[in-house]
Amino acid sequence: MAKKKVLCIGLVCLDIINVVDKYPEEDTDSRCLSQRWQRGGNASNSCTVLALLGSPCAFMGSLAPGPVADFIVGDFVRRGVDISGVAWQERGETPCACCVVCPPTGSRTVVLSDTNLPDVSAEDFSRLDLSQYQWIHWEGRNAEEQIKMIEQVREHNSQQQEDDRITISVEIEKTREPLYQLFPCGDLVFMSKDVAVHFGFHSAAAALRGLYSRVRKGAVLICAWAEKGADALGPDGVLVHSDAFPPETLVDTLGAGDTFNAAVISSLSGGGSLQEALTFGCQIAGKKCGIHGYDGILQ
Ligand code: ADP
Ligand code: FRU
Repeated sequence: MAKKKVLCIGLVCLDIINVVDKYPEEDTDSRCLSQRWQRGGNASNSCTVLALLGSPCAFMGSLAPGPVADFIVGDFVRRGVDISGVAWQERGETPCACCVVCPPTGSRTVVLSDTNLPDVSAEDFSRLDLSQYQWIHWEGRNAEEQIKMIEQVREHNSQQQEDDRITISVEIEKTREPLYQLFPCGDLVFMSKDVAVHFGFHSAAAALRGLYSRVRKGAVLICAWAEKGADALGPDGVLVHSDAFPPETLVDTLGAGDTFNAAVISSLSGGGSLQEALTFGCQIAGKKCGIHGYDGILQ
C-alpha cells in the first residue's frame, strides 16, 4: 500500500516577492534587486517543504479559477503535492501578497490582499477519503468550521486500529481570539511567538508552561521563537529545546515558520522523537533563512 499522506489545510496565495537591499521609504521610487512569483500561504508552504523532505503530502484550501490559480496549480503539480482536495470557489479572488524581503536583516514584510474567498468548510472536508492520510495539519483560520473537521477525524479515529489513526496538528499563528479555541483540538499544537507575546510571555519556555493547560490531555505544545530556536512541552512535563541554526548570511525568512512546522511534522510522522523533530525543524528552517525560496533546503 502507498505511504499515507500528510494533509495540510489552510491558505494558498500568490506571493509577489520583491528583494531589496534597503527597506523602501514611503513615497519613494526605487528598484528591487530581484522580483519573483512564488506560491505562498502557510499550509501551502508547508506542503512545499514536506514534498522536498520526501513526505507524501496533500493540500486542501480554496482557489478561484483564473491566471493566479493556474500558476499556483502548476507549482503544486511541479512539487508533487496532491491537490485533489482543493475547493474551487465560485466567488472571490485567489489571494495575492506583496512581499518585501530585505536580505541584510532577513526581514520580510507582507501585505496580503483581503481574502474574500470562502475558506474550506466542514462539508467540503466531509468529502475526503480520510483513509489516505496519516496526519492532518490545520493552519488556524475559520476555527469554528475547522473544529467540526477535527471532530470528523476524531470520530474516524475512534473506529480505527491504533496504527491507522490520524494525528491532528493545528497552528495558532495569528493573534485572533477565535483561533484560541483550537488549543484543545490538536495532538500537536504550534503556537507562534506573536501569540505567546499576546498572552504576556517573553520566552517560548514561559509561554509553554503558562498555556499548556489549554491543550488536550496527552498533547504536545510547540513554540518557535525566530533566532532563539524553538521549545516544546509534552505530557511528561519535560521542556524540550533546540537552538536555532542561523545561516551564514540571512537572506529570506519568509515562510521560516511554515518550514519549521513541516520539518517537525515530517520528523514526527517518520517516528522521530520530540527532541529530534524540534532540532530537525530548526535545522531545516535555518537552511531556509539562508536561501531564497525553498530549493536547496536539503543541502
Ligand atoms: P515565522 O516568523 O515565519 O513564523 P518563526 O519566527 O516562528 O518564523 O521561526 C521558525 C523557526 O525558523 C525558528 O524556530 C528558527 O529555527 C528559524 N528561524 C527563524 N528566523 C531565524 C533567524 N533569524 N535565524 C535563524 N533561524 C531562524
Ligand atoms: C509566509 C506566508 C506567505 C504569505 C503570508 C500570508 O508564512 O504564508 O507565503 O504571503 O504568510 O499571511
